Amino acid sequence: MQLSKLMQALPPYHFADAKRKIAERKAVGVDVINLSMGDPDLPAPAAVVERLCAAMQDAENHRYPEYRGMRALHEAIAAWFEQRFAVRLTPERDILPLLGSKEGLVYAGAAVLNAGDVALVPDPYYTVYVTASSTVGAHPYFLQLTEQNGYLPDLEHIPADILTKARILWLNYPNNPTAACAPREFFERVVAFAQRHNVVIIHDMAYAEVYFDDFRPTSILQIPGASDVAVELHSLSKTYNMAGFRAAMLLGNHELVDAVGRIKSNVDSGMFRPIQYAAIEALHLPPSWIQQRNAIYQCRRDLLVQGCNAMGMHAHTTKAGLYVWARVPQRFTAREFATWLFDKAGVFVTAGSNFGVAGEGYVRLSMTTDEERIATALERMKAVL
Ligand SMILES: Cc1ncc(COP(=O)(O)O)c(C=O)c1O
Repeated sequence: MQLSKLMQALPPYHFADAKRKIAERKAVGVDVINLSMGDPDLPAPAAVVERLCAAMQDAENHRYPEYRGMRALHEAIAAWFEQRFAVRLTPERDILPLLGSKEGLVYAGAAVLNAGDVALVPDPYYTVYVTASSTVGAHPYFLQLTEQNGYLPDLEHIPADILTKARILWLNYPNNPTAACAPREFFERVVAFAQRHNVVIIHDMAYAEVYFDDFRPTSILQIPGASDVAVELHSLSKTYNMAGFRAAMLLGNHELVDAVGRIKSNVDSGMFRPIQYAAIEALHLPPSWIQQRNAIYQCRRDLLVQGCNAMGMHAHTTKAGLYVWARVPQRFTAREFATWLFDKAGVFVTAGSNFGVAGEGYVRLSMTTDEERIATALERMKAVL
């Protein structure tokens, strides 16, 4: 069959492939320790599960849901955002519930980009930004993130011919995969840059609520003027261990929020109402729930960072997000190292080069495995290295 040009621009999704490889190894009896995915292993809050089950009992909730989500969900999101970031959003205007932020990223790209436009993509990147850009015929222009620039893109040295064609800047802090965070001053510069060059900022904040020590990630919507040029995506996947529920939200610039809502109402029929009730329940949880959950991740982070550093892998202490970003031993490329570790130790990590050219030389290790298994993984790594 002859498939469309869109399919030529659409690569297989790395983690779909990774899951298959892991399943194959497990099927032949290998005890695989999977440190590759940011898929929370801890359960969703009990109150959320109870609310979901209760809502399932009401046949009214089995019908088509509201295309853009229930008013009560919009209000719960606005209240949560105000409590967390001290910014008041207008529920019906500035907020759109999503079936996961992944779809929101793709639709936001489609709502802004035309074929031939340039999309500014910090590299390494969550691969969906490139997919969302190239499937509509836009060209990614990569801005290297390095240890030297603190993993913040250099917006001052983008060539003029690129800048005139640039329509989107994708951002993601806390960052996947580098675990970097951006200070408030960076977001101030970004908003000024977007205003100057008529660029739309799409800030993916999937890891907003996984943070450690005294650190708290900044929202771009805290910057005055940001909602003229930016939208931000938040997700219940990592925030409340609800990855399978598919619940997230697009916030900020109301024209773009409305445009994504228009695409979605033509493509899907909204979020299953029991999941909307479960999301409301989650958003009403006290901040102490987040603190307790983050304390568990923090122990895992410490174990991973210390373990990697003891093997000479130069990991920085992650301030937020679910990952440790570590250098691979010099004799390997990132992909060679990840494959070698999988074969020799049954430990599956993600090669940095899966996230772009600038990820070469690094691997990403996820905190979504319990301490005992992480300790075993580190012992096995040490043994083979
Ligand atoms: C940076 C980033 N954005 C978005 C997502 C997808 O989140 P969701 O489950 O809300 O689709 C992920 C998932 O790993 C991610 O790492």
